[in-house]
Amino acid sequence: MKNILITGGSGFIGSHVVRLFVNKYSNYNIINLDALTYAGNLENLKDIESKSNYTFIKEDICDDKKMETIFSKYDIDAVIHLAAESHVDRSIKDPFSFAKTNVLGTLSLLQAAKIYWNNNYANKLFYHVSTDEVYGSLNNEGYFTEKTAYDPHSPYAASKASSDHFVRAFNDTYKLPTVISNCSNNYGSFQFPEKLIPLFINNICNNKSLPVYGKGENVRDWLFVEDHARAIDVIFHKGKLGDTYNIGGFNEWRNIDLIKVLIKTVDELLSREEGASEKLISYVKDRAGHDYRYAIDSSKLKNELGWEPSLQFEEGIEKTVKWYLNNTEWVENIVNGDYQKYYKEMYEN
Ligand code: NAD
Ligand code: TYD
Repeated sequence: MKNILITGGSGFIGSHVVRLFVNKYSNYNIINLDALTYAGNLENLKDIESKSNYTFIKEDICDDKKMETIFSKYDIDAVIHLAAESHVDRSIKDPFSFAKTNVLGTLSLLQAAKIYWNNNYANKLFYHVSTDEVYGSLNNEGYFTEKTAYDPHSPYAASKASSDHFVRAFNDTYKLPTVISNCSNNYGSFQFPEKLIPLFINNICNNKSLPVYGKGENVRDWLFVEDHARAIDVIFHKGKLGDTYNIGGFNEWRNIDLIKVLIKTVDELLSREEGASEKLISYVKDRAGHDYRYAIDSSKLKNELGWEPSLQFEEGIEKTVKWYLNNTEWVENIVNGDYQKYYKEMYEN
């Protein structure tokens, strides 16, 4: 049996990674450590919570002494680290909490791994999950590769960039066995409805206005979350120690075009007249420091480890919209809570 610590497993991507590993690897004990911040939700893992190879621990990764205790109590062999503050708009309002969780939290886990493994690194791994936002912003040409220099713009991106640097520093300095992946924008089930796709699906359903930042011309490269989880599985098992892998969908969309696809899909599924919800589009003040374009070159991952996205975007979007329409209770439980206050502050002031 291997004991694998997955941090942030009750969030969006983490829940898909935990589900995949718990169901696929009965020879792994999966220990999900999550502080259950506003973004963590035990409902996300209801289907696997009673499995014998799954344990949940509610803890904060910033508590370094607690992390050391957990490594030793559960005899941790490997870490897949996803816990983070993850929303750019929130990072603009409150950069400190991003530095704390994303930088100091990562450092506290690295330190716990270093101390517990104590130079006995055979079959050990610290896998850090990061984002393409560390590379900054592209104009209309080119892609981010693993060699692109870091140039973060938002406090979120700066905190993730810093955490990546700490992971590499622990690999260089202490020979800690690490691997990093930097992924593009994810979409799919269980995504907190503050991010573009679930927020807009919910607003279209409820005939609420769709706040498009700036002119809606910014470009993102979208990947279905289950494909990201599969990539993490491949890199976890076959990735080269000390290396970095970019993960992306080769699937770029201007925000406004993506929003029209969402409108079309929701309207069709709700039997509304074609384009009926386009009237909900409302152009609002641009996000401060809004990165223009993200586009990932994930050919290294394809060529070296054989991973490719499995879903066409239209298929993934339809699956995703159907999931939100069939899980209105999950969405309502979120939007009826503290989220109301956030939404008012963010969009209605
Ligand atoms: P999320 O916000 O949905 O989930 C984050 C999880 O971390 C939550 O369950 C939360 O409770 C937990 N958490 C937060 N602070 C914690 C702390 N101090 N201690 C323990 N747990 C804590 O985020 P997500 O979208 O699932 O992203 C997961 C990871 O993937 C992040 O590291 C993010 O930077 C990275 N990433 C996300 C995307 C994306 O499109 N969402 C793309 C690339 C990389
Ligand atoms: P988001 O889902 O926040 O992801 P990220 O900022 O990490 O890429 O936003 C995706 C894109 O959608 C980004 O260009 C900002 C834009 N956006 C809006 O236009 N309106 C919104 O209400 C939100 C949340 C995002």
